[in-house]
Order: sequence, then structure tokens, then C-alpha cells
Amino acid sequence: MSEVTTAAAGQAGDALENLLKENRKFAPSAEFAANAIVHGDEYAKADADRPAFWGEQSRELLSWSKPFTKTLDWSNPPFATWFEDGEINAAYNALDRHVEAGNGDRVAIYFEGEPGDTRTYTYAQLTEEVKKATNAFESLGVIKGDRVAVYLPMIPEAVITLLACARIGAIHSVVFGGYSADALRSRIDDAEAKLVVTADGTFRRGKPSPLKPAVDEALSAPGHSVQNVVVVKRNGEDVNWVEGRDVWWDDSVGTASTEHTAVGHPAEHPLFILYTSGTTGKPKGILHTTGGYLTQTAYTHRAVFDLHPETDVFWCTADVGWVTGHSYVTYAPLINGATQVMYEGTPDSPHQGRFWEIVEKYKVSILYTAPTAIRTFMKWGEDIPAKYDLSSIRLLGSVGEPINPEAWMWYRRVIGADKAPVVDTWWQTETGAIMIAPLPGVTAAKPGSAQVPLPGIAVDVVDELGASVPNGHGGYLVIREPWPAMLRGIWGDNERYQDTYWSRFDGMYFAGDGAKWDEDGDVWLLGRVDDVMNVSGHRLSTTEIESALVSHPSVAEAAVVGAADETTGQSVVAFVILRGSAVEDADIVTTLRNHVGHEIGPIAKPRTILVVPELPKTRSGKIMRRLLKDVAEGRTVGDASTLADNTVMNQIAESLRK
Ligand code: WT7
Repeated sequence: MSEVTTAAAGQAGDALENLLKENRKFAPSAEFAANAIVHGDEYAKADADRPAFWGEQSRELLSWSKPFTKTLDWSNPPFATWFEDGEINAAYNALDRHVEAGNGDRVAIYFEGEPGDTRTYTYAQLTEEVKKATNAFESLGVIKGDRVAVYLPMIPEAVITLLACARIGAIHSVVFGGYSADALRSRIDDAEAKLVVTADGTFRRGKPSPLKPAVDEALSAPGHSVQNVVVVKRNGEDVNWVEGRDVWWDDSVGTASTEHTAVGHPAEHPLFILYTSGTTGKPKGILHTTGGYLTQTAYTHRAVFDLHPETDVFWCTADVGWVTGHSYVTYAPLINGATQVMYEGTPDSPHQGRFWEIVEKYKVSILYTAPTAIRTFMKWGEDIPAKYDLSSIRLLGSVGEPINPEAWMWYRRVIGADKAPVVDTWWQTETGAIMIAPLPGVTAAKPGSAQVPLPGIAVDVVDELGASVPNGHGGYLVIREPWPAMLRGIWGDNERYQDTYWSRFDGMYFAGDGAKWDEDGDVWLLGRVDDVMNVSGHRLSTTEIESALVSHPSVAEAAVVGAADETTGQSVVAFVILRGSAVEDADIVTTLRNHVGHEIGPIAKPRTILVVPELPKTRSGKIMRRLLKDVAEGRTVGDASTLADNTVMNQIAESLRK
């Protein structure tokens, strides 16, 4: 279990012992509990018959154009189907039906641009925009089943594009705008995308920041599948234009008809692919389908955030490039008919109070953000949020990485006026929706713990052999039963799907996280136990960054570890062995950081690159990252007895002293 403990040590400085001695508890106020959407009896109801429970949720929360008669089919594990004989249109559920129900004038999106420009879309207006985009994409030849790559900033057109794809039954594949041209190309190729939707660019810290050049670079080499590129004019900068391929959004979507009737797609029709980092170099295209995904995202959004759609203003700060921006920006809030805020920029632009200014301005009542942001706000000081009226806030959510109790307490006290429940939500790109979280009107919340599997979700912590561990013990987080929003596979690679998630423990989904049951039976997430790092809630693969480093001619070998970082959770530290004359190059570290930025994207740039003469390897040639992690985190190096050459760690220490 040494890897699990190492991962735990990676959490923002909280020693494992302290974590597990947490005995502060915050029960919901009587008032909150009385008005809560979901009550405690939901657990027993779900336990009695999981598939039936999800079937009931699905019928209640969604409008099916053809009702399903079957719930779960698990006769061919690990391939599940949910609600298989039903038909449903995701965009109709997110849009038209709210207008038909008389809620067309309700605000769907308050958009706040990074330079301060704003736009408001009611449900009626957003429905029209999506119908136009649907017609425009269809006239470019996009049909059901085609893949559409999306490389956009956090602007309403991102949500409009995704919903237009869903309406057609085309499969969207969003690539985060911070990824490089190379990363974009490999994702376009893997999914064989027919259309790319992008923008001239966005804004960062008040200045234009380009996006289209990366698309042009990605498509510069022949042999790709892309026929058209639709370009949103966002920052107004000049762009390179490929006649016949490129189309302005305003010319295609802008002029399209507002009439479009949605048809239902089979429940198991693919909704999207989203690439995420795994333990090997090649990103995995996580595949999600329609009916089950919509059911669980809508249910969890309502239950975990206690959503009252008529009165709440929901703000999830995640970018649409990550799964959180799919499930809790694009789909669930709109399916549930909520009003939400969408923000294009960073928390410190043009000043460190920007988030709180937005909360005050739109009277945000539910805020969902990441621990790395919370720790940054702590660093900036509580006098900054104190300048704003945050009294609209009644619930706070956290996602993306373990939240240390200190940050949890600060979040509740400073942002939540010491009364807003904090819900720490554990889930993954693969799970599609929240899996572990307190229910805000039910659970007495415990700082730092995601606590309880949601109703209808069967989570466990097991040892090396797959046996459940008792309370007070740690091991590996697994999911024992299929769940509606589970990934249906890895795009084009069923074998990798089985190997990655279903082969470590018999009949269980292996999440890749270490976890612990505490004495009360609450779950604590302890970080990844595999070669995946979590930097500011972004998932990065050690091997992917190593491959990027060794693709540079000056690098002979590279090893990457995630080192504990007070603000970002983990940070990327690389150890490299240089080739020949590169050793004399004073700028080599900068060169290599930029090279990684070019190969993968700025988010993957190592914080530190250490040039070393050797790397610690076992006799079978496997790099012992555990030892490098000790070095990167400034600890005494642990047991090095299995090294092929036991002088290596001394050589490394010696070279770092120089
Ligand atoms: C990994 C999944 C879920 C959307 C954002 C990240 C870590 C996520 C928590 C949490 C502890 C968490 C896990 C997980 N993680 N939420 N509340 N507490 N760890 O999605 O990029 O697929 O990453 O993020 O390690 O495996 P992702």
C-alpha cells in the first residue's frame, strides 16, 4: 500500500493522521433540511432496487420521446446499457420542453465575458440559437453519428455547439483550449472529426489570446478527416483563412433558420467523447451515451446542490473543456431548467475580487469550484471577498481533487458566512456524474471528506486482493455496481477499456484513486495511486509528459512525478538525462518547458526540471518514481533496495547539490 500513502502525502500538506482525526461536523440547519429537495429516505429507496430507482429518476427528470421499458442490462459486463429501448433528445430536454412548459422567459445563461461584456440568454433565446446552429451544422453535412471537434473558449457558443450536436445526434469531442495544436490534431485524428468549431480566440488578462492558429497548425498536415471549420468571432483579431474550409459562425449559424424539430435518439446513442489522460502516453477518448448520462447528471445536480430551479442561480466555474463543464454547465443545469452564470476569464482578472463581484452581481446562490481556486483565494486574503455582498450564497460545492480541511473550513466560513453547506463531490471523466458527496439537507458534513456514495451508487474500498477493508482502513476505491452515467468504453478501444478499469479487481470498476473508510464509515479520497497527476484539478499523465520530453533531441531519458504543492495540489517535476552537448546549454530548462507546452499545452509544463546523470530503475528497468517523488518533495529518500544500481540516488542528490 506504499503508493496509497505516498499519494495521501501529496495533499496540500495534511498528514494522513490529521485527516482521519477530523471530528468537526456541520449538520444542516433545520431550515435548510426542511426545504431540501432530497431527504434521507432516498438511500434506502435506492438500495432496495438500484435499477428501479434510476428508472424512476429518469422518468421524473427527463422527457422521453419513446419511453423505455428496460432499465439496466448488465448481461455482458463490463458493457452496460441503460434504458436501452427508450428514445430521447438531449437538446430537447435542455431547451424546447422548458419553453413549451411556459418557462421560455426564464434566464438560462448569464454570460460574463473576460473583458466585462455581458449577454443574457433566456430559455427561449437559447433554444432559438441552438436550432440555428443545428441547421447550420446540418447544412455543412453533419449527420447523426459524425464527430465534431470543439476548440472554444468559455463562451455561450460552446454550450450552443454542444447542444446542437446532441440535437443532431452528432458526437461532440471538446478539446480544452489550453491544449496545443499537436494535442488537438491527435484528438481530431483519433475521433475522425468531420467538423471543427473554434473561435478566433479569447481574452486573457484583458489581452486577446488566439485559438484559431492552433487549429490551422493542427490541420496543416494532410490526411485529416476535417471538412469544415466554423469560426466564432470573439476577440476580433485577424485570422488566417482557408477558403472553402473555413466558415464564420455569423455567416452560417447567424443566417440559419430558427425552425428545427428535434427527434429522439436511442438511449445508448453516443453523446460525446472526452479525452483524458491515463497511465500510458496516449489519451483515452472516454465515451458517454445519452439516456443514462442525462439521468444521473440531472439527478445529482438536483440532489447534491439542492437545486430549486425557480429561485437559484447556479455557477459552476469549470471550463467546458473538462467533464465538469459538460455535466454541470452544458447538460444538468439546462436539463433541470436552472439559471446559471458562465464566465470566460480567470479569477484574478482584472482584479482578485472578480469571482465575488460576479457572485454579487448575479446573486449566485450555488457556487461550484475547485480546491485549487479556494486555496488561491485563501492566499489572497479574506479582506478581498469581504468587500462584496455574498449573502445570496446558500450552498458551496468542491470538485477535482481532495479538499484539505483547512480550505474546506475557510470556504464555509468566509464565502458561506459560516452557514452554507459545503459539498465535496468525488467523480471522474469516466463516471460522468457525481458519485460520492454529502446530501446537503441530510448529511452532517465533515471537512475534507466526500463522505457518502450517493443513493443508487455502490462504492467500496478494497485491499490488494479486492476484499473490502473495514472502517479505519485504506485501500483502493472501486465501484461495485454499474451506474447510469458510466463510460460506455474508450473510443475505438474496447480492450483498453476492459484492461484499464475492469481487470485490476474482478467484477469491479477500479477508479485509480486511493481511499479510506474512517471510523464513522465515511470515505476519504487520498489521491491517485497510478501514474496520473492532478495539477489544479487537471488530470495529467506522467508518461505523456515523459514522452513529450524525450521527443526533444536533447533529452536521452526523462521521468516525471507529481510533487505536493500547497496551492495546486500537485505540480509537475521532471528529471531528465541530457544528451551530449545539451549539458552545456544554459537555457535547456526553459527550452524543455516550452517544448512540453508545444507538445501538450501550457498546463503540462513542468514547474521544475532537474537535470540528473541517472534515473533510479528496478532490475527490470522500471523507473522508481516513488524515490524521485521523495526527492521532489524534499523528503528523505525511502527504501531503495530494489534498485538495479543503488548508488543512483546518491548521484542524483550530488548533482542537485551542484
Ligand atoms: C480524478 C478525476 C470530476 C471532475 C473533475 C476531474 C480526482 C476529483 C475529487 C474529490 C478527491 C477528486 C480523483 C479522480 N478527484 N474529484 N472531490 N476529491 N479527488 O475529473 O479529470 O477525470 O479527474 O480527480 O483523483 O480520479 P478528471
